[in-house]
Amino acid sequence: MRAAFTPGRVGLQELKNRIVMSPMTRSRAYGADLAPTAMMARYYAQRAGAGLIITEGTQPNAVGQGYPNTPGLHTGAQIAGWRTVTDAVHDEGGVIYAQLMHTGRIGHPSNYRSARYPVGPSPVQAEGQIFTPDGHRDFVVPRELGAAEISQTIRDFADAASNAIAAGFDGVELHGANGYLIHQFLSTNANRRTDEWGATPRDRTRFAVEVTAAVAEAIGNDRTALRISPANPLNDIAEDELAETYHHLITGLNGIKPSYLHVLESQAPGFTRELRRAWNGLLVLNPATPGGRTGPEHLALIDEGTADLLSFGRLFISNPDLPARLASGTELTEPDLSKAYGGDESGYIDYPTLAGSAAPA
Ligand SMILES: Cc1cc2nc3c(=O)[nH]c(=O)nc-3n(C[C@H](O)[C@H](O)[C@H](O)COP(=O)(O)O)c2cc1C
Repeated sequence: MRAAFTPGRVGLQELKNRIVMSPMTRSRAYGADLAPTAMMARYYAQRAGAGLIITEGTQPNAVGQGYPNTPGLHTGAQIAGWRTVTDAVHDEGGVIYAQLMHTGRIGHPSNYRSARYPVGPSPVQAEGQIFTPDGHRDFVVPRELGAAEISQTIRDFADAASNAIAAGFDGVELHGANGYLIHQFLSTNANRRTDEWGATPRDRTRFAVEVTAAVAEAIGNDRTALRISPANPLNDIAEDELAETYHHLITGLNGIKPSYLHVLESQAPGFTRELRRAWNGLLVLNPATPGGRTGPEHLALIDEGTADLLSFGRLFISNPDLPARLASGTELTEPDLSKAYGGDESGYIDYPTLAGSAAPA
């Protein structure tokens, strides 16, 4: 049997297998105050066959929201909404981490429900456009975070992590990938600061390390994880001094001992082996190659020892019982990505399981 289908462990949690549902924004948090809904609870419960579910990106504070209808973890209503999700997943025997995503400069004033403006390490506009209720719009020049605001943002991450535990989550993954706030601090084009948050490669890792340390302090290192995507240019990110920067980051993480490091491989697959050598802890790999996607052929990466756990994104959208299908070699359903963001039950909770129904209720 492939190692992927044997029990695993993340922090305090025993996992029934080593297959992880990768975090995916679905923009359906239609509850008052951007709270999760009953439909979201059903969606995640359907996918509880994963060894570990990582939720969609969830903002730790109001200004951290980049896209329409993404959920938060900074108000009582949001905590209550997430409690229905974690209860539904636990009832199905699943394990679930919340992904905390502050989008930083990747946002737009019209995507907030109240008057706010995107912030970032430096006032540098990302090339490209973002979906808003008024159609696609250019990214804006973010407002540069002052030193006191950086400290407050770190506290907001820690408070949101505590809220996640109050909502019943088994842990929290910090989104340090894909060009959002933590990755913006790691980069050389979004972070032009000359202070201790940006002057050197080590300084550019300070925000990632301090957020991870503050969250570990709040909820325990064994419930804290970080996702990274070295050399991923998504959202107009450039990373000069890549190896040096990530060396400092991994050194910082080794001191904190988070429950896992989640690597989205993207443009630099060879770099994973270096990270594997440097990082002392558990490695979750999302081996997305450009133009490709994670599939059954990647299960061997666990057998080979490249990764401890493997995460799948798009195939979990359309195969709620993905681990069972992978184990039995059953044909996989392709996702309809036109229904990825926003919308109703269609393309969300109506994909059938092998048993032929969109169970459990
Ligand atoms: C609809 C959609 C939404 C996504 N949202 C997030 C997100 O909120 N946070 C994150 O870290 N990655 C996000 N991703 C990236 C996925 O987690 C994953 O890394 C990517 O899809 C590549 O893996 P795959 O080939 O298995 O799909 C998203 C991907 C998709 C398709």
